Amino acid sequence: MLVSATEMLKKAKAGHYAVGQFNINNLEWTKSILLTAKEMRSPVILGVSEGAGKYMGGYHAVVGMVNGLLKDLDIDVPVALHLDHGSFEGCYKCIEAGFSSIMFDGSHYPIEENVQKTTELVKAAHGKGISIEAEVGSIGGEEDGVVGMGECADPKECKAIADLGVDFLAAGIGNIHGKYPANWKGLSFETLDAVQQLTGELPLVLHGGTGIPADMIKKAISLGVAKINVNTECQLSFAAATRKYIEEGKDQQGKGFDPRKLLAPGAEAIKATVKEKMELFGSVGKAE
Ligand code: 13P
Repeated sequence: MLVSATEMLKKAKAGHYAVGQFNINNLEWTKSILLTAKEMRSPVILGVSEGAGKYMGGYHAVVGMVNGLLKDLDIDVPVALHLDHGSFEGCYKCIEAGFSSIMFDGSHYPIEENVQKTTELVKAAHGKGISIEAEVGSIGGEEDGVVGMGECADPKECKAIADLGVDFLAAGIGNIHGKYPANWKGLSFETLDAVQQLTGELPLVLHGGTGIPADMIKKAISLGVAKINVNTECQLSFAAATRKYIEEGKDQQGKGFDPRKLLAPGAEAIKATVKEKMELFGSVGKAE
């Protein structure tokens, strides 16, 4: 059964580790992530962007697929199904469809409007036992059409949003979706520290987990990050393994063109990436 992400992230913050949010795109992605979480005895959050939700047929289709896999694969670790960078309307659609967690990305609105919309959604989500993430200070780069400038969050604005009763908060600290450019300045730990000082126990979220060096990940966790989002890295490992299979001509040997064979190396590669991240984030063995 899906659970809200609130408890798993409170535990993570108190225990000084982070739970990974891995974005899903299809059945293979979802199965690989769920099986790895089960094997690692780790809690996990499945992230769905609005674009990926549409690609998979819609939010009801996603909920049906995930719930079916939880049952058929006997997934006995905590799993949350979370809307990633949701619009105001998208959040309502996911609450109705059966998601267990939502993110409202109001970072592009003036702070007053972000506060007003977040307040309304906190009420709607909590009324159904669903957790809610909010964002202050945009995440740089582009993810599924959501483009951000990457400015650091204002700690006072973070406090204002935290006080609305959100369950976890994404604060921009110089992080970027996708690959980091060679001249990237790194995460602003000064901002993260200031945000944590004002928001206290609230679990903080680090977006743009792809390509952040291990030492920065560990430092971010030590400063209150309890959820780390990873998307591009699974896409890159899936693509590399699939390319290798095809370049080696394996799709042309025997029944190598069978989609179940063709997509298998990519699915295995995702498992390896997820495992590596769970080990780095410290969530292995924390399911119980
Ligand atoms: P990456 O694609 O950079 O891993 O970021 C994922 C993310 O933050 C999803 O919201």
